Amino acid sequence: MTTFTTLITGASSGLGAELARQSAALGHDLALCARRTERLAELSAEITASHPGVTVRTYALDVTDPDAVRTVFRWADGETDGGLDRVVVNAGLGKGRKIGSGRPEANRETATTNALGALAQAEAAMEIFRAKNTGHLVLVSSVTALRGNRKAMTTYGAPKAFVANMGEGLQSELLASGVPVDVTVLLPGYIRSEMNEKVEQKTRFMVDTQTGVRSMMAAIEARKRRSLVPGWPWRLIGPLLRVLPLKVVSKLV
Ligand SMILES: NC(=O)c1ccc[n+]([C@@H]2O[C@H](COP(=O)([O-])OP(=O)(O)OC[C@H]3O[C@@H](n4cnc5c(N)ncnc54)[C@H](OP(=O)(O)O)[C@@H]3O)[C@@H](O)[C@H]2O)c1
Repeated sequence: MTTFTTLITGASSGLGAELARQSAALGHDLALCARRTERLAELSAEITASHPGVTVRTYALDVTDPDAVRTVFRWADGETDGGLDRVVVNAGLGKGRKIGSGRPEANRETATTNALGALAQAEAAMEIFRAKNTGHLVLVSSVTALRGNRKAMTTYGAPKAFVANMGEGLQSELLASGVPVDVTVLLPGYIRSEMNEKVEQKTRFMVDTQTGVRSMMAAIEARKRRSLVPGWPWRLIGPLLRVLPLKVVSKLV
């Protein structure tokens, strides 16, 4: 029987954990990564109980360590039946603070995790996919990538713009070269997760985790190049955000 294996980073909570559940429901084998391995073990037990045919492997990983990212991805690729088919670059941090408010370390940690961590994951995944001449890289950006954001969100949003731009750059290169590797950039709106409890952010348009992740999964499975998720209201608001004056935008997000 052919297997399909999805590696998900940041699988210990929120969107990553739910992506794992919904991928398992599609019959995907899983390679789940995060720092909190006890959470991964609980999730693995839960998924194995509800989907006995699915193989779940778990890996301790801090995405700010590029050598560890490369080692773990290669290890997971080697351990899984047929190797990795999809990598979801989902791990992220929402610890931002207003720039200049005396918490530079929080902003540095957020920028390192969300930008350099994502780059390390893209490097490691693409190395594997280029060698196999197939694969699907999914990058979790955010609607905050669309415009500059205020206060605590400034340093959160900027790396998300980096991630979205990196994804488009890869798509452009792969299209031109004809290499059959797909890249999906997801721009989620506000979806309930552990991160929302930590970040100072408005909860307007917030959806529950399952609903939000269902929309993410639909875009992933369709191998969309770029998708605002959930569609409502973000496919309406997103294009507006790009063109509205900053004075208006700053009242919306
Ligand atoms: N929720 C939303 O509304 C929303 C909207 C747009 C985009 N996003 C993005 O969605 C992704 C998932 O976030 P979430 O909302 O599900 O938040 P979450 O519940 O806080 O989950 C974040 C995940 O990232 C992992 N992580 C953080 N730093 C890490 C590091 N240095 N190394 C490895 N793993 C790390 C955490 O695992 P450990 O702590 O166990 O390592 C955790 O599993 C993030 O990229 C976030 O920016 C979320």
